[in-house]
Amino acid sequence: MAPHPNGVRLKDLRARKDEALHAGTDDAVARQHARGKMTARERVEALLDPGSFVELDLLARHRSSEPSVAGSRPYTDGVITGWGTVDGRQIFVFSQDFTVFGGSLGEVFAEKIHKVMDMADQVGAPFVGINDGAGARIQEGVVALDSYGGIFRRNAHSSGVIPQISVIMGPCAGGAVYSPALTDFVFMVRDTSYMFITGPEVVKAETGEDVSLLDLGGAIAHATRSGVAHFVSDDDRTCLDDVRRLLSFLPSSNAEPAPWVAPADDPARESPELNDVLPERTDLPYDMTDVIAAVVDDGYLFQYAPLWARNMLCGLARLDGHVVGIIANQPEVLAGVLDIDSSEKAARFVRTCDAFNIPLVSFVDVPGFLPGADEEHGGIVRHGAKLLYALCEATVPRAQVITRKAYGGAYVVMNSKAIGADLAYAWPTAELSVMGPQGAVEILHRRELAESDDPAGTKAELLAEYVERYANPWIAAERGYVDDVIEPATTRPVLIRGLAMLRSKRAEPRSRKHGNVPL
Ligand code: HXC
Repeated sequence: MAPHPNGVRLKDLRARKDEALHAGTDDAVARQHARGKMTARERVEALLDPGSFVELDLLARHRSSEPSVAGSRPYTDGVITGWGTVDGRQIFVFSQDFTVFGGSLGEVFAEKIHKVMDMADQVGAPFVGINDGAGARIQEGVVALDSYGGIFRRNAHSSGVIPQISVIMGPCAGGAVYSPALTDFVFMVRDTSYMFITGPEVVKAETGEDVSLLDLGGAIAHATRSGVAHFVSDDDRTCLDDVRRLLSFLPSSNAEPAPWVAPADDPARESPELNDVLPERTDLPYDMTDVIAAVVDDGYLFQYAPLWARNMLCGLARLDGHVVGIIANQPEVLAGVLDIDSSEKAARFVRTCDAFNIPLVSFVDVPGFLPGADEEHGGIVRHGAKLLYALCEATVPRAQVITRKAYGGAYVVMNSKAIGADLAYAWPTAELSVMGPQGAVEILHRRELAESDDPAGTKAELLAEYVERYANPWIAAERGYVDDVIEPATTRPVLIRGLAMLRSKRAEPRSRKHGNVPL
């Protein structure tokens, strides 16, 4: 008797799915593991809650008639796509499979990515792209290039609507780097991932410069020098855990608040250690992360781009269980000065928080902008304006805490009330003035100092007079530029009460196509 046709189809289905689930050859998988990398499928499983992955287009295959690939049409076409959950919340994902055509992108591969990107945008859920591929599939030529365009367009279209996270776990080269660059967050894995427009061989041929793969485009290069990578992890698994942690701070889309978690930390808790945290002399540094840790829930700050522009701290934390974005000058690095990189870093972070309804808190101890020809010629005017613009436009609840120096334009830029902070607080040690006492005294009293019989004594007197008159929080408090001068120990409860009051703040609707951010 002939077998029942349904049974034949079922057997066929199982065989096809089994083949698809093992699309990469055993050798290719072994090479992947030997490099210390997980496979595309292992990565998806590690990222998502166990058993939650729902795959799409497992049985998709390329339709290229190009002779070198026409005879080899592996299922999946080299990318795994679908959705699942992280801590019970839905996300969409693609994971490039280096074991199939080197994870290179052709028409069908790209169609699969376009499909999940569209779904993520439509249902309002974060999108995570795991990159480990050789870029445009050579055999598909211009079709592959056009397909990349479809990804870029979707990245831009979903920007500010759903969180987009790029994870680089292998090669990401040429124009392919621009999809991660368009997303909100970029993770890289130390030693096994790299990103560049042109690789070391082309660099050598074109410029004669000898540079290794990792020095040119490795995780550390991008996390410390270019600022392209925001997070670096030691291996694939740690990296995917870090992605899960980041997602715990983000809303599913711009239509939702960031997820609240029941706090273990007392909202009324004071931090007496903050009353003594500042050094006696105002020219000595201290670690602003100590201040932040004393204020936020459980002392936990998830730092954004911690290895780049370290004079500016950015990160996500919680206050009474509600997510806040923190920007803070770091007196330990370059005295916390604002420069090109720190302005860019904070500007991008502020835009990200504002897009995703995350209130902003700034901790200010800033001596000004970094002087010098390198900074001026590098465009500090343009780059500083990005941070200013980002804050002027931000409509989320915003609070400022001035711990010490707040000098000149840098004070205004660091989320002052004048540019839209809802609440501003100063510690009694705050110095809000046009410039630091030293510089001001030298400019205002040059002749008096030159003519003095006791220049050191005269200067000390003039400095004391300047501090008394200008470098303090009292004038700002009189005028309402700060809403209160607070005991440092009370910073946490003060911020929690202020942000609770602001929770129902509404953004004013504006009718314009878009502003012209100084990019
Ligand atoms: C098709 C490719 C491929 C490609 C590699 N493979 N690159 N197939 N298109 N672009 C295949 C290889 O033939 C090989 O197939 C398998 O993938 C693994 O590649 P290997 O070279 O053996 O691996 P490895 O030594 O680890 O080197 C990986 C690599 C190298 C560094 C990525 O393959 C490489 O440099 N490839 C070219 C990268 C590139 O220039 N891409 C274009 C970038 S420009 P078999 O069958 O032997 O396993 C771009 C434009 C985007 O992407 C435009 C956007 C607008």
